[in-house]
Amino acid sequence: MGYQFICVNIEDGIAVVSLNRPKELNALNKCMVLELDMAFGEMAGNPKVKAVVITGEKNFAAGADISNMLTLSPELAKEFSFRHTFNKIEDFPKTVIAAIPGFALGGGLELALACDIRIASPNAKMGFPEINLGIFPGAGGTQRLPRLIGTARAKELIYTGVIIAASKAEEYGLINIIADNPLEEAIKYAGKLAAKPPVAIKLAKQCINLAFDVDQKIGVEFEGVAWASTFATDDQKEGMKAFMEKRKAVFIGK
Ligand code: CAA
Repeated sequence: MGYQFICVNIEDGIAVVSLNRPKELNALNKCMVLELDMAFGEMAGNPKVKAVVITGEKNFAAGADISNMLTLSPELAKEFSFRHTFNKIEDFPKTVIAAIPGFALGGGLELALACDIRIASPNAKMGFPEINLGIFPGAGGTQRLPRLIGTARAKELIYTGVIIAASKAEEYGLINIIADNPLEEAIKYAGKLAAKPPVAIKLAKQCINLAFDVDQKIGVEFEGVAWASTFATDDQKEGMKAFMEKRKAVFIGK
């Protein structure tokens, strides 16, 4: 499918989704986010896609397009918010990696937070500058950031609007890896994850995503049921048999 503001390229099981408004530093407009929504809807059921990388040329995204928000009423602001699409990306049944060159700000950082893993270039810059616009992060930032890096650091970033370097973001646990070529590294990483048993990855992701939302005992019960269901897969049989036979497992995704 052809898109106006994103490009999707699927090769060897990895889909690379590139945000494509380079002149505006990939600022996210409603149409771009709708395209992301459609692309993730399509990729969820596409057997050719085993893992996804989201990236952008030179920059990840410098936030929501401010020119689109100037005259929004509270009702329209609620509709403009990207939260439903970012929730969909967080719940995507395969792994999603953000490869971050340059800026990941505001809604751009919120998109990266909805991904499973974040890999940034040494010159990447991240933050939530919304406070300087008289607003605050409105696409999951106030919820996902404290869960990831703790409330003290989340409040520091959200209240001050400070933009931090990749090294600080790594120290805070906001990103997993710094790499000179984050896209190349992310594709390599996605390739490794794509070779893992997909049902176990999908269920582990569901369990981890649930961890902060439910009481621990309920979470552990959910985990128990999900864990037991992996024993219905051929990949569990292959993984354990391969271990016993001292060879590398070959997973078939069933
Ligand atoms: N919205 C709209 N346009 C943007 C943009 C944004 N978020 N970020 C950058 N641009 C545009 C600039 O207006 C500029 O356009 P023109 O060439 O037509 O003037 C172009 O991209 C290049 O940007 P700069 O000239 O500003 O580049 P710079 O290197 O001097 O500065 C920057 C880079 C520090 C990222 C600066 O562009 C900036 O501060 N951008 C805004 C960051 C921001 O506030 N993001 C949060 C948005 S609100 C949000 O995301 C809400 C939410 O929670 C969903």
